[in-house]
Formats: sequence, structure tokens, C-alpha cells
Amino acid sequence: MAFKGLTRRQFAGLTGWSALGLSALSAASGRAEAAAASGFPSGFLWGTATSAYQIEGAVNEDGRGASIWDRFAHTPGTISDRSNADTATDHFHLYREDVQLMKALGAKAYRFSIAWPRIFPEGAGAPNPKGLDFYNRLVDELLANGIEPFATLYHWDLPQALQDRFGGWTSRDTSKAFADYSAYVAKYLSDRVKYFFTINECSRLVHLGHKYGADAPGLKLPPSGLNQVRHNVALGHGLAVQAVRAHGRAGTRVGPAENAVSCIPAIETPENIRAAEIATRELNAGYLTVMLEGKYTEAFLAQAGKDAPKYTEEDLRIISSPIDFVGLNIYTPDHYVIAAGNERGFTLAPFPASFPHMKASWLRPGPEAMYWVPRHVAKLWNVKSIYITENGTSGSDQPAADGTVYDVDRIMYLRNYLTQLQRATSEGVPVLGYFLWSLIDNFEWSDGYEQRFGIYRVDFDTKRRTPKLSAAFYRETIARNAVV
Ligand code: NOJ
Repeated sequence: MAFKGLTRRQFAGLTGWSALGLSALSAASGRAEAAAASGFPSGFLWGTATSAYQIEGAVNEDGRGASIWDRFAHTPGTISDRSNADTATDHFHLYREDVQLMKALGAKAYRFSIAWPRIFPEGAGAPNPKGLDFYNRLVDELLANGIEPFATLYHWDLPQALQDRFGGWTSRDTSKAFADYSAYVAKYLSDRVKYFFTINECSRLVHLGHKYGADAPGLKLPPSGLNQVRHNVALGHGLAVQAVRAHGRAGTRVGPAENAVSCIPAIETPENIRAAEIATRELNAGYLTVMLEGKYTEAFLAQAGKDAPKYTEEDLRIISSPIDFVGLNIYTPDHYVIAAGNERGFTLAPFPASFPHMKASWLRPGPEAMYWVPRHVAKLWNVKSIYITENGTSGSDQPAADGTVYDVDRIMYLRNYLTQLQRATSEGVPVLGYFLWSLIDNFEWSDGYEQRFGIYRVDFDTKRRTPKLSAAFYRETIARNAVV
């Protein structure tokens, strides 16, 4: 690959960044001025994020078993461009080059996910040592380049065998199998991986996968089934926390990576802020609230009624096993909230039809989410360590005549969100790091390759990676530790 071992100067030369005057912006004096106005705490951890199925490819190599996403993507009518991730970005073979892309940004951390069916092709039973070998190689390469690995244990690629045998997350047998797999990974990787995320976006996997059928496994369950899936997923999280603690080396840290329903005060008055806090707690009742409080809220149980999940008190203790941090994926504001004298204590303002969106129509920019969500989480549950585990946007990303992708829409988006993140950290909200989604363009689930989220463009035919202008923006942000 063309990008191996690039020096900073070579990297800049690729897109003519020097010609754009970007190197001058990095001058020490400029950096100091910017940091004063818009700096992040020293030691703030800048990284990028990806997930296994979206980038790895090599679905039949080294003994990997099938996942529910292999099955789903190969089912006609599921993926908008009729693609699949059999090859994806070929990261499985190009991981060394991808680590160099991170290094060229100056990133100090990388959030990736481990494909469960590479480790246990049948979901449980005999492990596949060759599957683990890939992650051994990746982790060693990261560490050799000064990049801290953060591993997500589950980013939606459930072994198909567990779907066939137990009905996947409809059964708590899957929660238990997840704990066994997590124990195995923690045992063999925690000599080098110190940070583990349990489940990526419980709420999306429950809703899109099991209510609307838009994600694998493509189910459309009635309320009782859906509530049970939600509980089993939360239980899987808690069991995995316990497994990582029991089998990881001393000092291994673990927590969720959740796309919390984000509730923003429509106008920043004390009443509306309080209403947004109440909404945050209620609308995340089946996820962060039960994980951090060890109980379902009364309103959640009342609303579920006869369709409430079946569970024991012991389940609740497991789900609320102590965690070391909360990871938050932040994209759109789900609700603007106003205080109101109703029973719930909050009212959701409907989105007007004129609300803008990025290339993906679901991606409404709401930079204030980056301030309010971590602030609510820290205040409501006294959380002391938070990571922003994802934030980013897709764009049309067409190369200009000179070959460069001038993705100024992504830069605008990132700058606005990072400004709000800086507002949070400067007020003492304990956010320790930020993982930009995504390092490279990849397979965007049911949108196939039509939504590009990378700060490096991938030519999906040749697999060649090219930095977009936003990669230069992010490199400058990292170098200055400040909003550029
Ligand atoms: C969140 C998911 O974790 C990730 O897999 C996805 O690509 C991004 N959102 C963008 O939709």
C-alpha cells in the first residue's frame, strides 16, 4: 500500500496540505493561542473508531464462522445497494497500513471491535486460535506505533449458530454465551488491551434488529418479545462486565458503548435543563438507567405492563455490575425537551420538517448533544469517566478535479460538535477521550457503501485509502489539543 510508514511531510504532500497553508497553522504560537481559547485537558485521548464487520472482509478466512450480518446482507432486499461486507475495506489484510493512517493523524487511541465468530465460529464450544491471532497481530501493531487499543466485544456480528440454536438475543442462553466469549478474549488479550467495551449501541441492536427488522437478524417482534430481547442484551452486558473482571489482568477496565437517547433542553433555562435530565433517565430506562441504577424505572414498567420482561432480582444485580466508564456514541439529538407540568415532568418538542440533515437523512446535526449527554450522564449517575466512543458524519465525498475530497461539511459538523465537547470538558464534565467515527469509509450496514463516514476515502474497488480534507482538520485538532 502507498501509505505505509508515511512521514508527516509525505502525508501532507498527498493532498497538497502544505500548499493550503496548513503546516503554517501548526506553528507553536498559533497553537498556544488556540489552546487558551478552545483547548482540551492535557492528556485528552484522541482516537478513531471502526467495527469488525464494517471493515475486515475476509469472512471465510482462518476459520471464521458466519455471523447474522453475513446471512442478513446476503438476503435479497436488505441492503440498499445490494452489497455485503465479504471484502469490505480488506482491513484484515491491510491492518498495518491502517495503523499507519492513524499514526499519520497523531491519534493516540483506536477503538475496534472483535468479531465473535472469528473467535468462536459456532458461538460457543471450541475456540478458533487462528481467529484470536488476527487481533494479536493488530494489537501488537497498534502498541508498536504508540496507539492504545480499546476493544469492543460486540458490535452486532452475532455468530449465526447462536441465532439458529437459541434464537439469538431472544434467549438468555445468548447472554451467557456472550459472557464465555468475553472471558476468553479478556484472558488472552488483557496483557495488552486495558480497555474493553461490552456491547455497542444496545438500543440500536434491539430496535433496528428486533423491532423494525432493518438490521440483522431482521426480526419484527411484538412488545413482549422486544422487551425480553432488551433485557437479555442488558444482562449480556452485565455478565460480560463480570467475565472481563474475573478473567482480565489486574487493571483491565470495562464499560458499555451506548447510543443513549439524547435529550437537550430546547432553551437553556433551569426548568428545561431539569426536564431534559428526567427525560434522559426515562428514555434510557432499559439501557443506561438499569445498568447504573440496578432497577427499571416505575414509568418504564408501567408502560410495559403485561409485556414487561421476565427477570429476577439477581439479573438486576448482574446488569448493574460496577463499570469503570461509560462510552457514549453521539450523533443526532433525539429530542429537544421543554419543561411542562405534566406527570412525566418533560415534554418532547416535535422536530419541524425544516430541520436540516447531513447526507444520511437520519443524521440531524445537533452539536449541543455533545455537551448535554455527557453532562446528564455525569450528573444523573455520578459517572466519573466518560469516553465519546463515536461521533462523525457521512458525506457525499466526491473527489474534486485535483483528486482531493474537500469535505467541508464534515469539518463544519466536527468543529461544531468539538466546540460543545470543549464546553463540557472546560466545565469539568469528565470526558477523557474522543473516538471519531470513522477512520476509513466502510460498510454502513443496510446502507451498504452508499454512506461514507471515513476521514480517509476508500476506493472500494482498489481498496486504496486517501485522506480527505477532514483528516487534515483532525490532525490539526489533535496536534493543538484544541478546536481548530
Ligand atoms: C453507530 C454504529 O455503531 C456504527 O456501526 C455506524 O456505522 C455509525 N453509527 C454510523 O451510522
